[in-house]
Amino acid sequence: MSSTILITRQLPESVLERLGAACQYRIGVVSGSITREALLTGLDGVEGLICQLTDRIDEAVIEAGSKLRIIANVAVGYNNIDVEAATRRGIHVTNTPDVLTDATADLTWALILSVTRRIVEADAFLRAGRFDGWDFEMLLGSGLTGKTLGLIGYGRIGRAVARRAAGFGVNVQYCSREDVAFRDDPRYQSRAVPSSPLASPINQSAHFDGLAARHVSFYELVESADIVSLHTPLAPTTRHLIDRETFRRMKPGSYLINTARGPIVDESALVEALDAGHLAGAGLDVFEDEPRVHPGLLQRQNVVLLPHIGSATLETRTAMARLAVDNVMDWIAGRMPRNKVN
Ligand code: GLV
Repeated sequence: MSSTILITRQLPESVLERLGAACQYRIGVVSGSITREALLTGLDGVEGLICQLTDRIDEAVIEAGSKLRIIANVAVGYNNIDVEAATRRGIHVTNTPDVLTDATADLTWALILSVTRRIVEADAFLRAGRFDGWDFEMLLGSGLTGKTLGLIGYGRIGRAVARRAAGFGVNVQYCSREDVAFRDDPRYQSRAVPSSPLASPINQSAHFDGLAARHVSFYELVESADIVSLHTPLAPTTRHLIDRETFRRMKPGSYLINTARGPIVDESALVEALDAGHLAGAGLDVFEDEPRVHPGLLQRQNVVLLPHIGSATLETRTAMARLAVDNVMDWIAGRMPRNKVN
């Protein structure tokens, strides 16, 4: 008997056709998000779940799927899934890396340029009928050449952002997930903590695709970067990583860019840092409590706010759906799912 898969939200037809040739599937909702109740009841008799980052796959959901063997998230981040609970039950969890790297890196640069050159503010200014002639000092922004971009997280997306930096004459510094996790550990301060294979020793340059990026500690990065951009997953070590203390250590007049996950930033502390004029601006694609946005951000002109569209291109979303389906099809064929994370 063929397997049954629950797809919480409709995926592109071309992708569903491939899946339909290998198994039966049910679709939760055509648009928007599946309700929790529909998710819990929909899991009855289902062996595979294809879900979205807005679907909270916690222990209760995992328990409800008594036959569940694979959970394929249509996203690279999988903080919406209780991976430990799934692992305890022997359920594979997969994500969709690589296919969204370029789209997310492009959007990071769109935010950097928008906020430093005041693009959204300038557009609103013109539409409000306030453009009554060129003026020497009108809407002055901040240039990028010679500035320092600090990347927190230097995985696929962080490096893709770094590659694009070369075209803007920006110096790149980065710290790894490990630098973040051990930032307050005295052994780390003396560099006694073993370095991951991804990370070069602190204060050395790493060369990827001909680009020199300097590896620095977390605190060196926040204290010296003109633009801090976040590219780490949301984990216990990164929740509120950018808090009041981090803002205090950031350079006066610097910018914060977040295309990773909202709860990495303490949004109230961000509003305070903006209100105090300590930060020059922020570009945010993700929020602490999506879809709610802190009211103190909505009022500000020096903040660009996007509705979590980092991977939102037709090509990328189709590739993400295909990859999630490929992972399920790997499992159906008795192979190890190609993007298993647990
Ligand atoms: C998007 O936020 C993703 O994790 O894929």
